[in-house]
Amino acid sequence: MKTLIKNGTVVTSAEMVVADVLIDGERIAAVGSGLGDADSVIDATDRLVMPGGIDVHTHMELPFGGTFASDDFATGTRAAAFGGTTTIVDFAVQGFGETLSQGLDNWLEKAEPKSHIDFGLHLIVREISEGILKEMDAMIERGVPSFKLFMAYPGVFMLDDASIFRAMSRTADNGGLIMLHAENGGAIDVLVQRYLAEGKTAPINHGLTRPSSMEGEATHRAIALAELAEVPVYIVHLSAKEALDAVREGRDRGVHAYAETCPQYLYLTMEDMDRPGFEGAKYVCSPPLRPREHQAELWKGLVLDDLQVVSTDHCPFDFKDQKILGANDFSAIPNGLPGVEDRYSLLWDGGVATGQITPMRFVELIATAPARMFGLHPKKGTLSPGADADVVVFDPAKRRVLSASTHHMRVDYSCYEGREVMGAPEVVLQRGRVLVEHGEFHGKPGDGKFLARSAFSSPGVA
Ligand code: URP
Ligand code: ZN
Ligand code: ZN
Repeated sequence: MKTLIKNGTVVTSAEMVVADVLIDGERIAAVGSGLGDADSVIDATDRLVMPGGIDVHTHMELPFGGTFASDDFATGTRAAAFGGTTTIVDFAVQGFGETLSQGLDNWLEKAEPKSHIDFGLHLIVREISEGILKEMDAMIERGVPSFKLFMAYPGVFMLDDASIFRAMSRTADNGGLIMLHAENGGAIDVLVQRYLAEGKTAPINHGLTRPSSMEGEATHRAIALAELAEVPVYIVHLSAKEALDAVREGRDRGVHAYAETCPQYLYLTMEDMDRPGFEGAKYVCSPPLRPREHQAELWKGLVLDDLQVVSTDHCPFDFKDQKILGANDFSAIPNGLPGVEDRYSLLWDGGVATGQITPMRFVELIATAPARMFGLHPKKGTLSPGADADVVVFDPAKRRVLSASTHHMRVDYSCYEGREVMGAPEVVLQRGRVLVEHGEFHGKPGDGKFLARSAFSSPGVA
């Protein structure tokens, strides 16, 4: 089966050219002109033809705070496809007392029968021991070369510095990558208890007890530990100027420090957590939303490549049934925001349509860099011959309004309710199959394949 995408402007991280794209079976066969006949033709006149998005930070069905993230692999990946994302890398969780392979098997069991799009997995490691360190090697063999460790959530996910350093030292030998949730969980917990004792229970106190200085401190510490272990490190969901400064300083002295940010930190602010009544709970995530002045710094980071990736940290909880668990205690509000469907359009609208980043940089941030850094390139993240035909035909002029009444994520609110964005995916293909076309979904649960990823390689290092 051959498909020809005709008359579009093809955008990769390297160039933007008027060209046709020929797909043969699951792969891109050629990009150029005069590519011959095909079984089906997609007209991309006045449209951009870009790689499918790769979101390397999602949490389908994550257990958190006595409940589970409301999207499973079926609903979440369907929503992702509507939004132009054709690959996710989700986080498998090592349960307490479990081996890493049990955690991985549990996640494969959830994901494989349901996922509409291709997916990889990272592992959240909660306990470090000699056995677990050895098992990290086995996980890399199974195509899971990245491990998220937490410096926050004492008693739930948090690891001490010795454990983090031991895990990092292991990756020096096995080629894995440590990803850090960088917030000083100990100090934050003291503040949380103090605020609750003072009767400060509203959602805004979630933000007030997690100051940006404590993200900066933990990010600096994470990078110092990586420097000592002589390994690369990746900071997840970076939200604050202090944390970005720590990344910049590390990079300036030669540490292979990398970081991602997420749309919520580029568009939403701490004031959202202070909305009337309990509405602020819709915006409770960690690290928390920051005062507006942090946003300009994050954009600067994206432009100058101190931030290499935009992911979503998609972790939705229903407002009515789940966020409500923290009605009398902000620390009991499940942490996380919905976003997997909105990333492509939000970054286009706020980044490219405003002139802050080029279309090529957009593709780099949303697809090519995540593919390279997380062992999926050149199969994913680009539109060159031989790559998987994961393609988005994008209408840059289309205006639409983001809303819970029209989105496909299984959650009862949108963080961007009523926000008009410019630019929308019109046709989305995965491995040559049309998944979404003009608002119609053609995917099937289980069509998405597990992607065994290769080990991390630092950009620019041979
Ligand atoms: O609030 C958040 N970010 N929830 C998801 C879990 C995590 O820390 O990434
Ligand atoms: Zn985290
Ligand atoms: Zn997360």
